[in-house]
Amino acid sequence: SSLPPSLPLFLSLFFFLSLPLSSLSFSLVKHFNLTRLGRSDLSGLGQLQTLHLGSNQISHIESGTFLYSSALTQLSLSENELTVLTKDMFDGLSSVNFLHLGINQIQFIPKDAFGPLTKLRELHLPNNNLNQISDIVNILVSCPMLQVLNLRKNHLISFESDRFPFPLNITDLDLGSNPLRKFTLHQNVFPHLKSLSLSPLRLDLEWDVSDDSFLQNLRTLDLSSTDFAFETYKLIFQSVASLEDLALRVVKTLLARGLLDFACKIPSLRKLDLRANALSVLSDSLLQQCSDVTHLDLSGNSLSVMSQSSLQTLRRLSWLNLNTNALTQVPVAVRNMSTLTFLSIAKNDLKKLECSDFLGLQRLTELILTNNRLTDLNSCVFQDLLNLKILYIDQNLLYTFDKQFSVTMRKLLVLNAKGTIGLLQKGVFQNMTHLRVLAVGKGAFIDDGAFEGLTDLRYLSYSPMFNTETGAGLESASGWRSLSQQFSNMPSLQILVITLPFSMCPVLPRDVLQGLNNLTSFSSSRFFCKPHPEMFLFAPRLLNLEITDNEQWQSPDPKILTPLRDLRKLDLSENHLQSLDLISEANLTKLERLILTNNELKIIDEHVFDSLPSLKYLDLSGNLFVCNCSNAGFIQWVLSNKQVYVARAFQYRCAYPLSHQGELLLSFNVRSCWESEGLICFVTSSFLVLVTLLSSFVYHFLRWQLVYGYFLFRARLYDRKKRREGSTHVYDAFVSYNVHDEEWVFHHLVPELEERQGWKLCLHHRDFEPGKAIIENITDAIYSSRKTLCVISAQYLQSEWCSREIQMASFRLLDEQKDVLVLLFLEELSSNQLSPFYRVRKMMRSHTYLSWTQARSHRGLFWERVRGALQSGNDPTNTLTANA
Ligand SMILES: *[C@@H]1O[C@H](CO)[C@@H](O)[C@H](O)[C@H]1NC(C)=O
Ligand SMILES: *[C@@H]1O[C@H](CO)[C@@H](O)[C@H](O)[C@H]1NC(C)=O
Ligand SMILES: *[C@@H]1O[C@H](CO)[C@@H](O)[C@H](O)[C@H]1NC(C)=O
Ligand SMILES: *[C@@H]1O[C@H](CO)[C@@H](O)[C@H](O)[C@H]1NC(C)=O
Ligand SMILES: *[C@@H]1O[C@H](CO)[C@@H](O)[C@H](O)[C@H]1NC(C)=O
Ligand SMILES: *[C@@H]1O[C@H](CO)[C@@H](O)[C@H](O)[C@H]1NC(C)=O
Ligand SMILES: *[C@@H]1O[C@H](CO)[C@@H](O)[C@H](O)[C@H]1NC(C)=O
Ligand SMILES: *[C@@H]1O[C@H](CO)[C@@H](O)[C@H](O)[C@H]1NC(C)=O
Repeated sequence: SSLPPSLPLFLSLFFFLSLPLSSLSFSLVKHFNLTRLGRSDLSGLGQLQTLHLGSNQISHIESGTFLYSSALTQLSLSENELTVLTKDMFDGLSSVNFLHLGINQIQFIPKDAFGPLTKLRELHLPNNNLNQISDIVNILVSCPMLQVLNLRKNHLISFESDRFPFPLNITDLDLGSNPLRKFTLHQNVFPHLKSLSLSPLRLDLEWDVSDDSFLQNLRTLDLSSTDFAFETYKLIFQSVASLEDLALRVVKTLLARGLLDFACKIPSLRKLDLRANALSVLSDSLLQQCSDVTHLDLSGNSLSVMSQSSLQTLRRLSWLNLNTNALTQVPVAVRNMSTLTFLSIAKNDLKKLECSDFLGLQRLTELILTNNRLTDLNSCVFQDLLNLKILYIDQNLLYTFDKQFSVTMRKLLVLNAKGTIGLLQKGVFQNMTHLRVLAVGKGAFIDDGAFEGLTDLRYLSYSPMFNTETGAGLESASGWRSLSQQFSNMPSLQILVITLPFSMCPVLPRDVLQGLNNLTSFSSSRFFCKPHPEMFLFAPRLLNLEITDNEQWQSPDPKILTPLRDLRKLDLSENHLQSLDLISEANLTKLERLILTNNELKIIDEHVFDSLPSLKYLDLSGNLFVCNCSNAGFIQWVLSNKQVYVARAFQYRCAYPLSHQGELLLSFNVRSCWESEGLICFVTSSFLVLVTLLSSFVYHFLRWQLVYGYFLFRARLYDRKKRREGSTHVYDAFVSYNVHDEEWVFHHLVPELEERQGWKLCLHHRDFEPGKAIIENITDAIYSSRKTLCVISAQYLQSEWCSREIQMASFRLLDEQKDVLVLLFLEELSSNQLSPFYRVRKMMRSHTYLSWTQARSHRGLFWERVRGALQSGNDPTNTLTANA
C-alpha cells in the first residue's frame, strides 16, 4: 500500500548518494591559471613547508588564506598579479623565513602587512612598483630580523637612513635597477650590511654617507653597469674601507679612464670581477695598482692578447678565470705565478699546449681547459703541476693519453675528459691510484685493463664503443662481459654513468654489474636494448637509477626492477615506454622521484602509484596522453592527491583522440565520465529497485495466483498422465472445513454421505498424506476429488487456509469450465461478514448453494440435494442442482 511514495524515496536517496561524488572531483580545477587564493585552497596542507605559487595570475589573496599554514617556511608568489598587500593576508605565516613576491605589481605596503612574518629572514621584491621609502620602512619595522632584502627594479628614487627608526639587521641589500638618485646614510642603521648591489644604475647618484664607519662591515659591492660621475666612485670607495669583493662588470669606458686605480686603493680589496668589459687586450697598466687582489675574473671579455707582464704585479693572485675569451694559447703572463691555485681557460681557442705553458705553477690544484680545440696532450705540459688535483679537459678533440700521463698525474683526484678521448689503452690510468672521479670518452675504443689501478674510484662516467682486444662489438654478450670484468677492480665505485655515443643495441649479460657492491647510482643512456632480466641482482643497493634514451627497449621485462628495493629515484625518460608494468611489478616502496618524460604512455592507471607509498615527485611530460574517460581516474588523481607533486601537470597535452589533439589534459571534462557512469549506475539500480518492488508487489498480491498457476500446470501434466493411464478420481469429494466445524462434519456429513449415500470423501484431517506441503496437500486433495465441498461458516471464512482452498477451487472452476465447487453454508452469514470474500459472494450470486440452517426441518431433502450436487459434474452443462 506504501508503494507509490517508496519509489521516489528510493530514487532521491540514490541521487543524494551519487551527486556529492561528482561535485567533489571538480572543486580543484581552479588551479588552472590561479587568479585568487582562498581559505579552502590550502586546507589539508597544514604540514606543507615549501609552497611555490609562481607564474600564476593571482591578484587577490583572501584574508585568512594562510591561517593554518604555520609549518610553511618558504613561500613564493613571484610572477603573479598582486597589486595590493592587505593588512591580514599573511596572517598565520609565523614560520616563514623566505618570501618571494617578485614580478608582481605591488605599489604600496600597508603598515602591518608584514606583522605576522616575525621569522622573515629573506624578502625578495624585485620587479614591483614600489616608489616610497616609507613602504620599505613599513616592512623593516615589522620584520627587524630581516637580513636579505631585494628591491631591484622598483621605482625608488632615493634611499634615506633618517626614515628608519632603529638599527636593522640587514646584511644584503639590492637596490639595482631603480631610478635611484640619492643614497643617504646619516645614522648607523645598517651596522651589519655586508653586501650592497647598485647594479645597474644608469643615472648619477648622490652618495651621502656621513661617517666612514657606517659601512665598515660592507664586504661586497656590485657596481656593474653603473655610469656615475668619477667623483661619485671616489666617494663610494672612500666610505667602504673594508670592502673585499668588488664587481665592475660592463663598465668598459670607466676602466679605460683608470677606475681601477681608485678601486684598488681600497686596502682590503681581494676579489675583482671584471667580466664582460669587452677587453681584447690586457695591458700592463690596467691592473698595476691591484697588487693585493687574490681573485680575478676576466671571463666574458674578448681577450686574445695578454701582455707578458700584465699580471706581474698581482703577487698574491691565487684564482684566475679567463673563460670565454679568444686566447689561442696559454698566455705567458700566467707563467711563474707561484701563488696560483685555480686557473680556468675554458671556452677559448687553444689548439695546442706547450711543455712550457704551465711552468712555475707548482701550487696549482685546479686547471680547467674545457671546450677548446686541443687535439694533442703531451704529459710534459703538466710537469710542474705537482699538486694538481682537478683537471678538466672535457669537450676537446683529444684522441688518447700518452704513456707518461698516469705517472705525471698520479696525485689527481678528479679527471674530466668527457666528450673527448677515443682510445683508452690498457694501463692508461695505472698509477692514478688516488683518482676518485673519472669522466672519459666520446664513443671510445676500450682495451681490456684500461681501468686498471683505479682502486679508489667512486665515480665513473664513460662512453664505450668497442672492445679492441677481443674485437667484439657491444652487440655480443662477450664484448660486454670482457668490458664489465673491469668493474671487479673498482670495489669502491658508487656512481656509474654509461652513455653510448649512438644507438647500437648492446647485449648485456646477467653479470654486467658484478662486483659493484657499493654502487648506489647507475645512469645509462642508449644502453638498454637487450638487458638480461636479472642484471640488477648484482646492484641491490641502488638508490638512483636512470635508464634513458633507448630506441629499442620497446617491451622491457616487467620484472627487471624487482631486485631494487631501496631505490629513491628512477628516471625512465625517452624510452618509448607504453606501459608502466615494470613499475607496478617492482617493489619500490622507498621511491620518491619518478621521471617518465617523453615516453609513449597513453593511459595511466593511477593505481600504479598506490604501490609507491613514498612517492613525492612525478614527471610525465611529453607523453601521448589520450583524453578520454580512460584517463579520468588519473586526471582526478593528479588534481586531488596531496602527496605527489606532478611536475608541469598543467602543461600536459592530449595526443589522442584527434579531435582533442593539443588540448590540455587537465582541462578534459572528466565530469562527463562520472555522469555517464552515474547514469549507468542510476539506471541499473533503479531497475533493481523496480524489480524488487515489483517482486514484493507480486509476492503480496499475486502469490497465490502464481502458486496456483504452478500447481495448475503441474496438475495438467498430472491430469494428462492420469488420463493416459485411464485412472479416475480417487475421491468423489474433497471436504474443506474449519476445525471448529469438525463435530458437525463427523456427526452429520460423514455418516450421511459416506455410510448412507456411499460417496468416497477426502477429509482434511483424515486423508491428507503426511509429509507433503500444505498447499500441495490441498491441491492434491482437490485434484484427486471430483468435487470440492466447502463447509462454510464464519470461522471457515476467517481461516486463511480455507479461503485459499476456495480460491484454488474457484480457479479450477473458471479454468476448467466445470462446476467442482459445492458450497454448503452451516450458518446464516450477513452480507457484512461476507463482504471481504469477494469470490464467495460472486459464486453465491452465480451459483446455487446449500444452506444447513434453512434446511433444518427437511434434512432428507437437504442431503438429497447434496447427493444431486455430487452426482452432477461429469457433464459440464449440468450445473449445481441444489436450490435454496
Ligand atoms: C594560462 O593562460 C595563458 C594565457 O592566457 C594560456 O596561454 C595558458 O594556456 C593557460 N594555461 C592553462 C593551464 O590554462
Ligand atoms: C639582529 O639579529 C640578532 C641575531 O642574529 C638578534 O639578536 C638581534 O636582536 C637582531 N636585531 C634586531 C634589531 O632585531
Ligand atoms: C720563470 O722563472 C724562471 C726561473 O725561476 C725564469 O727562468 C723564467 O724566465 C721565468 N719565466 C717568466 C715568463 O717569467
Ligand atoms: C706505475 O704503476 C706500475 C704498475 O703498477 C708500476 O710498476 C710503476 O712502478 C708505477 N710507476 C710509478 C712512477 O709509480
Ligand atoms: C663500500 O663502502 C664502504 C663505506 O662506504 C666501505 O667501508 C667498504 O669497504 C666499501 N666496500 C668495498 C667492497 O669497497
Ligand atoms: C616489498 O618490500 C617490503 C619491504 O621492503 C616487504 O615487506 C614486502 O613484503 C615486499 N613485497 C613484495 C610483494 O615483494
Ligand atoms: C580511450 O582511447 C583508447 C585509445 O584510443 C581506447 O583504447 C580506450 O578504449 C578509450 N577509452 C574510452 C573510455 O573510450
Ligand atoms: C499434509 O496433510 C497432512 C494431513 O493433514 C498433515 O499431517 C501434513 O502436515 C500436511 N503437510 C504439511 C506440509 O503441512
